[in-house]
Amino acid sequence: MRVRVNDIMVGYSEQGAPDAPAVIFIHGFPFNRSMWREQMDALAEEWRVVAYDVRGHGESGGGEKSFSIKLFAQDLIALMDTLEIERAVLCGLSMGGYIALNAILTHPDRFKALVLSDTQCGADTPEAKKKRLNAIESIEKNGIEAFTDAGLPNFFAPESLESRQNTVEHVRSMMSATPETTLVKTLRAFYEREESCSKLQEIRVPTLILVGEEDKITPPEAAKLMHQKIEGSQLEIIAHAGHLSNIERPAEFNDALATFLGSL
Ligand code: MLT
Repeated sequence: MRVRVNDIMVGYSEQGAPDAPAVIFIHGFPFNRSMWREQMDALAEEWRVVAYDVRGHGESGGGEKSFSIKLFAQDLIALMDTLEIERAVLCGLSMGGYIALNAILTHPDRFKALVLSDTQCGADTPEAKKKRLNAIESIEKNGIEAFTDAGLPNFFAPESLESRQNTVEHVRSMMSATPETTLVKTLRAFYEREESCSKLQEIRVPTLILVGEEDKITPPEAAKLMHQKIEGSQLEIIAHAGHLSNIERPAEFNDALATFLGSL
């Protein structure tokens, strides 16, 4: 399904009863909403589950504006208005977590709980900024396939690369389907993103933090830092998972998510 949100059309999927409490899923980069399939199926009996494509990704238009985490969070709030979701549980993975943190800090009344998966509150370090610029240069010079081939293994725990071929191929197809302009504009948005660690004590809703034990991109240390700063938050480290813990270890991820949602 697609709806108009701000200056773009946004692709989204929805399951469950329209009057059930809402859970909104935000995917990582450079993926799309299909990465949440197993979580949507697992929760749809009790929740209104919504997953959408972030601006420029999946079936969502990119528009003419430069990208920023702030703009992505504004799109989320406008989507909630359009879908008449007054308050939701927000679940974001990696880039989805950057968006979730921005949205909850700017619109605290719109969210009743938060799930932060394989993400971080810090801005890019000078070294990370340099990598973003190199990635942009390489995409512009060598195209998406080279970017996908180089980046793909970093998302997974070694065990997943060996034993979860279908999952790896799903991730490859999401990456190669992402337009080059989206890759470049989103990498610039990451380069410029502000830290939110200093504001995490403002978060007053129940929060679950999940991270793959072998996440190399946003490692368990980044999750532990958020756990220390968000009062009352819970931390679950998922064994044998890398950066994409929800698709590498869906059973463990879904158990943690269902237990948390059940406690609300
Ligand atoms: C993601 O999975 O969304 C990205 O790895 C985030 C990032 O590169 O900072």
